[in-house]
Amino acid sequence: MSVRTIAPTRGLKGEVTIPGDKSISHRSIMLGSIALGTTEITHFLEGADCLSTIDCFRKMGVEIERKPSSILVHGKGLRGLTAPASTLNVGNSGTTTRLISGILSGQNFATTLSGDDSLNSRPMKRIMTPLNTMGAHIRSLNDNGCAPLHIRPGALHGIHYQSPVASAQVKSAVLLAGLYADSPTSVTEPALSRNHTELMLQGFGAYVATDLHTDGTATAHVEPCKELYGQQICVPGDISSAAYFIVAALIVPGSEILIKNCGINETRDGILRVCRAMGADITVLNAHTSGGEAVADLLVRYTPDLKGCVIEGDIIPTLIDEIPVIAVLAAFADGTTTIRNAEELKVKESNRLDIMVHHLSEMGCDITGTEDGMIINGGKTLQGAVLDSFLDHRIAMSFAIASLACESTLTIRRADCVNISYPAFYQDLERLCR
Ligand code: S3P
Repeated sequence: MSVRTIAPTRGLKGEVTIPGDKSISHRSIMLGSIALGTTEITHFLEGADCLSTIDCFRKMGVEIERKPSSILVHGKGLRGLTAPASTLNVGNSGTTTRLISGILSGQNFATTLSGDDSLNSRPMKRIMTPLNTMGAHIRSLNDNGCAPLHIRPGALHGIHYQSPVASAQVKSAVLLAGLYADSPTSVTEPALSRNHTELMLQGFGAYVATDLHTDGTATAHVEPCKELYGQQICVPGDISSAAYFIVAALIVPGSEILIKNCGINETRDGILRVCRAMGADITVLNAHTSGGEAVADLLVRYTPDLKGCVIEGDIIPTLIDEIPVIAVLAAFADGTTTIRNAEELKVKESNRLDIMVHHLSEMGCDITGTEDGMIINGGKTLQGAVLDSFLDHRIAMSFAIASLACESTLTIRRADCVNISYPAFYQDLERLCR
């Protein structure tokens, strides 16, 4: 078991280039694999989740070369994948599982998907329902709505799906299956979730469009597709990883850091909007677009007088993975922060609502869990503690950051789960704290 003990620090200084975006890295392998020609991916995230995606497509006959500074995916075309010899191992990755299910629904061979204990307890009915309505035959082998999943494809027809959750994974699974359908497919979600699939599909030559409705709901449309075409993709830095250093610099006195080349797509930038509402000193520099994705450098300075705020509604999908570290930020801000409509956090890699409430309480924070969020009365001095990551990368990284601004050292058990999304996290953090 890996254990990390982290001491309070006197300030973060310097520059950091954040590893590639996890969501975009997954999608680049998936679309590259089902496109014609070669897709060259630079700044790909070599985290365990994205490596699971690579492994799955290699098992279906795709040649994927890992070069020192890029990944080359030699695509097989929309209908060129071949049946894997064994179960596809999706590891800890919900994104791999849900998105690949959409692609596998359109193949002419059956597959089985299975992952680790956490993955195999996460809800999969949310993709089984729409994909089976389109004509696939996806079965939960333990009949509990979770993986292992057996996917037997069928002739797919387009549907209009009204998704009960704002989930990019659900939306993407349906849109990817829609490429293989006999008529157009659309998905309406209660609030706009991350749109990387839509942007990348457009880049690969598919017809995709999105309607934003006045009530905050959003509908994505995709047309059946003959072929996709390989692309050059430069993956922006992952704002979900940058979030840890943003919060660290804001709460540790004397900090000033420059985060280079960070994705700021407006379906992902909720953390920046929340930080601004709390009064944070963040400057966006060098904003530009790369491959349809908004990118910028972020200059973040210690902000002594952060104020609590309310986080709810349509902003939630744009910061869903950042809520654990936003809870840490709120613990160091004055006044009350209330987070609502975040019940999805209960079904992530761990039950992030319960764990954040439990662990921050252990450190002396005044925090109360609610049905769909938490209420944090910030501004108290926090103490170190010995805390388990529950093998959830975002829990481990959130408490590594909390430890920097508390009164005594904090120990994280099973700390190396950061490999899922940010293998060099502790090294980058140490460098900034020097
Ligand atoms: C992701 C979508 C989100 C997010 C996850 C990555 C994606 O999940 O939490 O880390 O890449 O599409 P949901 O779609 O379940 O909200």
